[in-house]
Amino acid sequence: MNSKILVATEKPFAGVAVKQIREICEDNGHILVLLEKYEEQAELIQAVSAAEALIVRSDKITEDVISHAAKLQIIVRAGAGYDNIDLNAASQKGIIVMNTPGQNSNAVAELALGMMIYMARGKFNGKSGTELKDKKLGIHAYGYVGKNVARIAHGFGMEVMAYDPFVTSEIMINDGVQPAESAEALYKNCDYVSLHLPSIPETQKFVDYELLMKMKKGSTLVNTARKEVVCEDSIMKALSEREDLKYVSDIAPDNAEELMSKFPDRCYFTPKKMGAQTKEANINAGVAAIRQIVAYFKTGDTTFQVNK
Ligand code: 3PG
Repeated sequence: MNSKILVATEKPFAGVAVKQIREICEDNGHILVLLEKYEEQAELIQAVSAAEALIVRSDKITEDVISHAAKLQIIVRAGAGYDNIDLNAASQKGIIVMNTPGQNSNAVAELALGMMIYMARGKFNGKSGTELKDKKLGIHAYGYVGKNVARIAHGFGMEVMAYDPFVTSEIMINDGVQPAESAEALYKNCDYVSLHLPSIPETQKFVDYELLMKMKKGSTLVNTARKEVVCEDSIMKALSEREDLKYVSDIAPDNAEELMSKFPDRCYFTPKKMGAQTKEANINAGVAAIRQIVAYFKTGDTTFQVNK
């Protein structure tokens, strides 16, 4: 009881989500500390030193931050990807790390389709564009977001294919999705390829020159996952060599400026990662995070632990 729970979000949740997080926290006898829009890592370090629990989004929880977290017992990443948290450093200090899988996936999926429409309609330039209906969409990694993308894409009348070596064909077929036997097959056959891979050593730079050059004529690569899964030099090279390819991403690559200046009609990058930045996703993920912390303190529940 009376644990200090720090919500540290450089990119804040919607106010209504914070309100609900606070209510659940206080109704369970805990104290909520809010650190929003912080600019320096030092602010995070100072705040975390007094906290027993921590809720974050893409905030970087490095070994340095963890070394200052003397009382910290649990970190919950309100979202799916936990590549922003040093799991080894947390485990070494016996700190539980959890995520909130699935809670913001519809928001990310809606943005992926929105980005497809934006590019299909020439970045809303008023000229004649194309429709998504009857186009083939390839989903690279068929997790929570990928499934939502498939559901929405079916509504647009798209044909949907997916590649994921960790998901059975049966699951995909049940969703009306055609399983691709390889990443190459997906990239070769689809008008849009939507990335939903986590950033782990095995997936970093997975989308390389070879794969990009296999993409179907006139196709668009849509990245609402992580910038690390696409090789940035390869994107530059592939877009230079193939005038028919497009790349849109919710996570601007390091070479975004150069890409935009060279290929203004064929690239688009959101100013800030906004896939999960909706009121609904903030409420879903934020409330799930605080509930998981309350349950952990009450009963020791570690259901969503990722550093077991
Ligand atoms: C996730 O991994 O859940 C998404 O990338 C959302 O990240 P965000 O909370 O920083 O918007």
